[in-house]
Amino acid sequence: MRSARTISTGKSSLVNTPAWQQLLKHHKDMKNVHMMDLFAQTPNRFDQFTLEFESILLDYSKNIITKETLTHLFSLAEQQKVQEIRDMMFGGEKINTTEDRAVLHTALRNRSGTPVLFEGKDVMPDILHELDKMRVFSEKVRSGTWQGFSGKKITDIVNIGIGGSELGPKMVCRALAPYADMLDVHFISNVDGALIENTLARLNPETTIFIIASKTFTTQETITNANTARAWFLNHADIAEADMVKHFVAISTNTQAVTNFGIDIKNMFEFWDWVGGRYSLWSSIGLSIVLYVGMDNFIKLLEGAEAMDKHFQNEPLESNIPVILAMIGIWYGNFFGAESSAILPYDYNLRLLPAYLEQADMESNGKSVDKDGKQTTYSTGKIIWGTEGINGQHAFYQLLHQGTRLIPTDFIASIHTHSSLHEHSNILASNFLAQTEALMCGRDMRETRLQLRNAGIALNEIEKHLPHMTFHGNQPSNSIVLNRLTPRSLGSLLAMYEHKIFVQGAVWNLNSYDQWGVELGKKLARNILDELDEGGILYQHDSSTEGLLTWFIESQKNNNV
Ligand code: F6P
Repeated sequence: MRSARTISTGKSSLVNTPAWQQLLKHHKDMKNVHMMDLFAQTPNRFDQFTLEFESILLDYSKNIITKETLTHLFSLAEQQKVQEIRDMMFGGEKINTTEDRAVLHTALRNRSGTPVLFEGKDVMPDILHELDKMRVFSEKVRSGTWQGFSGKKITDIVNIGIGGSELGPKMVCRALAPYADMLDVHFISNVDGALIENTLARLNPETTIFIIASKTFTTQETITNANTARAWFLNHADIAEADMVKHFVAISTNTQAVTNFGIDIKNMFEFWDWVGGRYSLWSSIGLSIVLYVGMDNFIKLLEGAEAMDKHFQNEPLESNIPVILAMIGIWYGNFFGAESSAILPYDYNLRLLPAYLEQADMESNGKSVDKDGKQTTYSTGKIIWGTEGINGQHAFYQLLHQGTRLIPTDFIASIHTHSSLHEHSNILASNFLAQTEALMCGRDMRETRLQLRNAGIALNEIEKHLPHMTFHGNQPSNSIVLNRLTPRSLGSLLAMYEHKIFVQGAVWNLNSYDQWGVELGKKLARNILDELDEGGILYQHDSSTEGLLTWFIESQKNNNV
C-alpha cells in the first residue's frame, strides 16, 4: 500500500468491523490448509460446492474454503449491505455518487415489460425505441436495402471507438462469430495510425459503414480516427460530403458533438449517462454486434443477461453465483494477499474475454479511496489478466504451477464447441480438466520420486531432479462450464462478471462506476501534444519526462530513423 503521499482526509474502518475481524481469525485456521485435505475430509465436496444456472455449471470446490469460510464471507457481504445497494442500483438510485449518476445498464436488458424508474420517469420506452431503431437499421443494411452512395450493398462495418465503446462489442463479435452471416466487422480503437491505415487499406468506401461510437464524443483517439476515416472516405473520387449519410453513423449521448462532426441526427443512436462506458455493450453501443449477428441474436444476448440479473436479485447469498465468486475473490485478495486473478477461457471464441474484463474490473474497482472519500486500508481491485487456453499453458502456466504467488483462476470452457473437429475439442477439454486438477493436487515428493523411479532414472539423478519436478498444488480455481457458447449463455456469463464486480465494489465501499484515474494522464498528454507540435518545452516537467520529451523533439527534428 502506498503511503508517501496523503490522498484523503481519513481512513476507512472496514478492517475493524466484526465480519472482517472474524475472517481474519478464520484465515489463521485456513492459511496452511491444503485443498487435497479438504477433499479427503468431504468426499461429496463437488456436490457441495457446485451450482447450476441454466446451461452453465459453476464448480467452486477447488478453493481454499469450507462452509464456515462462506458463512463468514456472506456475513461480510451482509454487513456491507450488498443486497441493499444492489436494490438501489436496480431501482435507479444515483449510486455513482461522484458523477451524480444512476447505474442502470440492467434496464437495457429488461425484457419483462415492467417499467424501470429513474427520477420518477420510466426509462423503458426510450430503451425500446432505440432497440427498434437498431433493428430497422440493421435489417436494412443486412438485407441490402441500405446501399452505399454508388448503389452497392454494404459488406464491411468499421466500429471506431475505444475502451467501453470497443472492448465489449469487439469481444462479443468475436465470441459470436459462428452466428455471423454476411458482414465483416472491424474495430479501430488505438490512435496509432498503423491500425487505421492497415484497416482502411483493405476496405472499399462504396461498401463500408463507419460507426463512430463514443459516449462523450470528445475522446481524442476516437475523434482523431473518425476524422481520418472521414477524410479517407471524402478523398475518393466521386464522393461528396452529402454521401456521408449512407456511410457514417454515430452512437453517443452527445447530440451536439455528433452534429458538429457532420453526422446526420437521423443516423445517430442514443444512449444515456446512466450507462457507464464499460457497461454499455447492451445499449446502442452494441450496434456492431447487431449488424454482425442480427437483431434476434442480440436480443438473446440481452435475455441471457436479464436471466442472470434475476438470479442475482432473487437468489439468497448462499446460492448466488456472482456473490459467491465475488466473495471468494475477496477471500484471496484481502486475506491471502493475492494480487491478481487470471481469466482462462478454453474456448477460442472467448479469447477477448480477459481483455474485456480487464477494463470492466480494473476500471471499476481499481480505487484506493472509498465512497466517503476515505483512504482504504485494504487492497481493492485485483489485477485481472489472462489469455485463451491452451495457448497460456505454453506461456505462463509455469508460474501458476510452480511460482511463488497465489493466483486464483477462472477456467471457462464450453462442452460443445463450434468446431466440427471432435478430436480437437476433446484435446481442449482434457487440458481444461487436467489443468485445474494439476493446480489443485500438485505432485508431492513421494509421488514424484516413484514416477522417476518407474521411468528408470538412476537414484542419484532422482534426488537431484526432485525439487524441480515437485508441485505444491493448492492453487485455487473456479471452473465455469457452458454447455455451448450461445448469445444467451454469453449474456449470462457477462452479466455474472458485471455483478461480481458490483459485489466486490460494494463490500469495499467503493464507487465502482466512476473512473477519475484515467483523467490525469489524458490532461498531461494534451500539454505534451502542444509541446510536440510546437517542437519545444512549454510546461514544467520532472527531469525524466523533460529529458524524454526533448529526446523525442530533437530526434524528430533530426529526422532520425
Ligand atoms: O478513458 C476511459 C474511458 O472514459 C472509458 O471509461 C470509456 O469506456 C472510454 O474512455 C471511451 O469513452 P467514450 O465512449 O466517451 O469515447
